[in-house]
Amino acid sequence: MAQVPPRRRRAPVGSSGGAAPSAPASARFPGVAIYLAEPRMGRSRRAFLTRLARSKGFSVLDAYSPEVTHVVMEQTSAAEAAAWQERKAASAPAGWTRPVLLDVSWFTESMAVGQPVPMERRHHLEVAEPRKRAPSPARMLPYACQRPTPLTHHNASLSEALETLAEAAGFEGSEGRLLSFCRAASVLKALPSPVTTLSQLQGLPHFGNHSSRVVQEMLEHGACKEVERVRRSERYQTMKLFTQIFGVGVKTADQWYREGLRTLDDLREQPQKLTQQQKAGGGRLWRVRRPVSAGLQHHEDLAVPVQQEEAQALQRLVEAAVGQALPGATVTLTGGFRRGKLQGHDVDFLLTHPQEGREAGLLPRVMHHLQNQGLVLYHLHQHSHLGDSTYKAQQSHTMDCFERNFCIFRLPLPPEAAVGGLQRPCQTWKAVRVDLVVTPISQFPFALLGWTGSKHFERELRRFSRREKGLCLSSHSLFDLQQEKFLPAASEEDIFRHLGLKYLPPEQRNA
Ligand code: UTP
Ligand code: MN
Repeated sequence: MAQVPPRRRRAPVGSSGGAAPSAPASARFPGVAIYLAEPRMGRSRRAFLTRLARSKGFSVLDAYSPEVTHVVMEQTSAAEAAAWQERKAASAPAGWTRPVLLDVSWFTESMAVGQPVPMERRHHLEVAEPRKRAPSPARMLPYACQRPTPLTHHNASLSEALETLAEAAGFEGSEGRLLSFCRAASVLKALPSPVTTLSQLQGLPHFGNHSSRVVQEMLEHGACKEVERVRRSERYQTMKLFTQIFGVGVKTADQWYREGLRTLDDLREQPQKLTQQQKAGGGRLWRVRRPVSAGLQHHEDLAVPVQQEEAQALQRLVEAAVGQALPGATVTLTGGFRRGKLQGHDVDFLLTHPQEGREAGLLPRVMHHLQNQGLVLYHLHQHSHLGDSTYKAQQSHTMDCFERNFCIFRLPLPPEAAVGGLQRPCQTWKAVRVDLVVTPISQFPFALLGWTGSKHFERELRRFSRREKGLCLSSHSLFDLQQEKFLPAASEEDIFRHLGLKYLPPEQRNA
């Protein structure tokens, strides 16, 4: 494959009439020998593109020969391209490795950046038959749920740069760009070794122009201007600050930003705006104090990550309360801590009982026990709407339908704990965000899979299910859209099996 030199040097652009050399030996990209297939291109355009590519140091061959690695076609369908290649193959010597068939978009994008861009699915003109010549040393499956992603990996600074751009895109409501950057970042997390040259991206899924450019800049300069600009921008910093507040989403944060609010003090000084916004944003009447007020009140603590030991301490407290409320009921730690994370922004628990139906009424009793011990600073109860048990009803909710409590716990700290980052010295307790979710045992495997995350893993898992298998996966069920029936599961392994996926343990779902 092409070894792209780490520093980009632009070759001087040749004069328009001059015939640039075509010998592959002199080309800057030794693994790339282009043949421009003429039929739809026309002779003069072909000549022009040839000169352009050669002026940029690409090898372009005049004749179709075994040296050709990349065939570029214009306005040609995959079927036409395949037929063209069949005709060529008929007269080719035995054992001739077939070149890649590419749309002209690969060519023009490569010309724009002055080097071969990674070949993506959209560039390829081939049908069905997989290419024998693997473009990448590592075979990378396209969906994050098809490959293990450990917690610690080899490309943290690159994936963080792309995730910053994903986050910023999310702040602007650009879902498509958010997904593109997340997918590229997730591919980097799954690689078995560090990316050190751009050529290593060749053949990897989800690396479009933009993400490739970011990686290239990071590799060449150690930083990416665009990412740095975003991180420094007032917009990004304010949106990040606001969306970190418990109960505040992108819409609310954006409205506050547009109203000129920038800091937590701005919010605290303008309670009337806060109230207006909450009414406008929520659309529902909360019977208890708004989460945003509670979130602001405890923000200093909530901004400090929850540690693994604190999550375990909370688990013991919740288990004790659940044990008192309903013997036999169980507590399962999910979310990031189940994936092996050492820190988190909250702690997520699933509550259930091995006998279907016994979980009804459990949550209020658990809360009662917790409150009696002074462990709860704030909670917002959400009723179950499991009654809407068709898959469509469940899909129509952005969140799942389980009964749940969004809480802020008052976690007692051990006396000797000098926990880093806490604002108040000699603090005896710390406010921690906790989600308690109740599920009937029949839905437990789906809830466990759905709540273990990561968010991107879940997104990919659902996309894979629907697009590749015609199955609709939620935190409640797996529904076969064609046969119109639910597929039962007694464990997460069962669900992976239904989906035809290799089982991935939670610690490999850090996509
Ligand atoms: P979190 O947002 O808590 O993420 O959701 P996390 O992975 O634990 O990371 P931290 O907390 O920031 O450290 C955990 C999982 O639960 C799902 C999310 O999709 C995520 O995969 N979830 C969360 C739901 O299914 N429904 C919700 O309402 C919230
Ligand atoms: Mn969590």
